Amino acid sequence: MPEESVRPLERGLAVLRALSVAEQVRAGDLVRATGLARSTVDRVVATLVRLGYVREQGQELHLTPRLMELGNAYLAASGLSGEVAARTARLADDLDESVSLAVPDGNGVRFVTQAARRRAMSVAFRIGDLLPAERCAPGALFAAEWDEAAWAAWRARVAATPADDPARAFPALPPGPASPPPDLADRVEHSRVTGWALDDQLIEPGLIATAVPVRDTAGRVRYALSAVSHTSRHTAQGLAELVLPRLREEAAHLESLPATQLPDGTADVMAPHATAEGLPREQPSTAKAELGPDFLQSLARGLTVLRALGPAHGDGLPLTAIAAATGLPRATARRCLHTLELEGYAAHDGRLYRPLPRVLELGFARLSRLGFADIAEPHLRQLTGRVHQSASVTVLDGTDILYVARAATVRVMSVHITLGTRFPAYPTAMGRVLLSGLPEADRARLLKAAPPRSLTRRTVTDPAELHRVLDRAAADGYATADEELEEGLRSVAVPVKDAAGRVVAALNVAQHAGTAPLDETIGALLPALRGTAAAIEADLHTAARFNGALMPWRT
Ligand code: PHB
Repeated sequence: MPEESVRPLERGLAVLRALSVAEQVRAGDLVRATGLARSTVDRVVATLVRLGYVREQGQELHLTPRLMELGNAYLAASGLSGEVAARTARLADDLDESVSLAVPDGNGVRFVTQAARRRAMSVAFRIGDLLPAERCAPGALFAAEWDEAAWAAWRARVAATPADDPARAFPALPPGPASPPPDLADRVEHSRVTGWALDDQLIEPGLIATAVPVRDTAGRVRYALSAVSHTSRHTAQGLAELVLPRLREEAAHLESLPATQLPDGTADVMAPHATAEGLPREQPSTAKAELGPDFLQSLARGLTVLRALGPAHGDGLPLTAIAAATGLPRATARRCLHTLELEGYAAHDGRLYRPLPRVLELGFARLSRLGFADIAEPHLRQLTGRVHQSASVTVLDGTDILYVARAATVRVMSVHITLGTRFPAYPTAMGRVLLSGLPEADRARLLKAAPPRSLTRRTVTDPAELHRVLDRAAADGYATADEELEEGLRSVAVPVKDAAGRVVAALNVAQHAGTAPLDETIGALLPALRGTAAAIEADLHTAARFNGALMPWRT
């Protein structure tokens, strides 16, 4: 008897796809995009909200960074370790050009690593973006391995791609009309002869790229390694001459890394990963008990199975391992895997299952465009709603704190703060949190560089006392500043840490000092601040796991 697919999982995936391609989506839009009944859409959305993959903002539905854990499972399984990302970033530094790795996805090309040096003039692709094979350098390398059926599928797809606006089918492309690309078969022939491929402004005027293949042990093209530039810097041919020796050298190195022995997440850009993506996060049965028929347990289970494919290095994982990791009966796990296969997100060879690059279409490309502030802001809004005071996130910039995200209340504060505002670090709670997270020598250097002065009657200016204040902040995990920056202003701040535990930002709530003792303010604010910092950190670690460029800068 043929295996049955899991309908709620299929529907959930359809809703996630619809949320991945459009902006400002409401439930009604999902009904139109998926053809599902409104009541079904509502239950799918309620389940995805409960799983933390979707956030409701008024009527609008937004994907959350947590959803990137699905794409992370694919990226981890494909052997894209911290070492590979770090080497790509170093190559981009050496060449002073953007460098990317892409994999074949059907007759498209999907980016799995990006180290951008992109100048302002052109589009920049992110991890998860999909390009049509005929419009980029890697496409010619991958198409060299297509069989007749693959060419036929490609021709059918080209015929269906709107010529007046290919971006409707490939949202990563710049919108609007594009000139017809040169013949793909000719480009394939060229790359067969030369061993590399060229993109001479196939995507947009000015954008040029050179790509070389990275092969697996069986000799099949596993990745394309590209260097990307602009005609204002090089001709297409000039770029190729400049970068080919280094690209080839790097490809040879990547080919020498044993796929099953790639270290996972040990390099600096991808610090050891915390438990945010541990399995399972919550028992679906708890949510089921709370949400009743609105919670689609088999959707939750299917997505847990997808996440469980993350450790599938090399050839993949057997069903028993997946059942054990998810706590699901084998038959249930197998039906989920079967559904994921039908949808193009997983494959199996004999007994072993692995995730496929298409998983990245589930919100990853869209979410990988988010910056640090975009990730923090929804959490700040929630905190502000809870404590009815303004909340902010700052980073250290030299001896100053710099506001990078903020949610303000309507109350009139005596200080006018906008994004980009700076204050000296030493008399602020956030500055103290940031300074206290630095190595001793850096902290001392910064305090010397901007010697403390009295800004109010209460500013701590004595260096020895300030060091004691910072030591206490490090030990307590929070800091305060009570009318030290400005009379009447009180602030409590906590650190925001990266996955390696380094303080990368500070989060605060500021309010009028009023008459309450400081301890009372701390007691009232600290639990909410800590909860918010933990929520920001969880999103940040998920979103930054394969994107080292996301973290806020540090001195
Ligand atoms: C990119 O990495 O952004 C890239 C790579 C190859 C292309 C175009 C862009 O042909």
